[in-house]
Amino acid sequence: MKLIKKGAEADIYQTKWQNSKAILKIRKVKNYRNSSLDSKIRKQRTIKESQMISHARTFGIPTPLVYFVNLEKSSIVMQEIPGTPVRDLSESKIIKLSKEIGKLVGMLHKNGIMHGDLTTSNFILFKNMVYVIDFGLSQNTMKPEDHAVDLRLIKEILNSAHAKIMQFAWKNFLLGYKSVVGTFYYTKITKLVSEIESRGRYAEVV
Ligand SMILES: Nc1ncnc2c1ncn2[C@@H]1O[C@H](COP(=O)(O)OP(=O)(O)O)[C@@H](O)[C@H]1O
Ligand SMILES: [Mg+2]
Repeated sequence: MKLIKKGAEADIYQTKWQNSKAILKIRKVKNYRNSSLDSKIRKQRTIKESQMISHARTFGIPTPLVYFVNLEKSSIVMQEIPGTPVRDLSESKIIKLSKEIGKLVGMLHKNGIMHGDLTTSNFILFKNMVYVIDFGLSQNTMKPEDHAVDLRLIKEILNSAHAKIMQFAWKNFLLGYKSVVGTFYYTKITKLVSEIESRGRYAEVV
């Protein structure tokens, strides 16, 4: 088994599952947490992530297939998507794909899912399809405020990790998002995003 990423919360390995390439995601023990609380949190996030990966696929979001879940080890074995994280693509590709990403986020929200960790590393381009991964922090919610938090995060990531293309990428993201959720909901959410941002600026000044 090959370790491909040591994250703050989980380690990711490349492995095999019945001869298919697979990814093993194991949530790590956190020693600063009380141990029974820690195992409860790890179990909950493992359940949530595996359920959401599968649920999102039922309404058309490309996600990895979940092959196996072990709650005792808080691990998930899933299909490896052997593509490239959007983060690592060329700037022109990121701009182009931002519209598709906006559509995917719109579909998630329309179906009552807040992703909770919308970064460009959590979208993988494979064979002209954008896959969504990393649902460990996702939530079932129809609250516009929660959906606005998702948009605020991806905007922040575009601003920091892709500053040069931010304006074009964000514009395309919003076009895609609007085409799925409709003008009314789009207006509501983007207003909330502005509100969150002005609160942020105010907090900085004070
Ligand atoms: N199913 C998968 N197929 C291909 N790569 C994956 C898959 N799952 C995770 N990865 C890779 O591992 C990285 C970390 O996994 P992720 O689930 O996002 O955990 P983290 O919570 O640490 O961000 C991803 O950014 C991606 O590069
Ligand atoms: Mg991730």
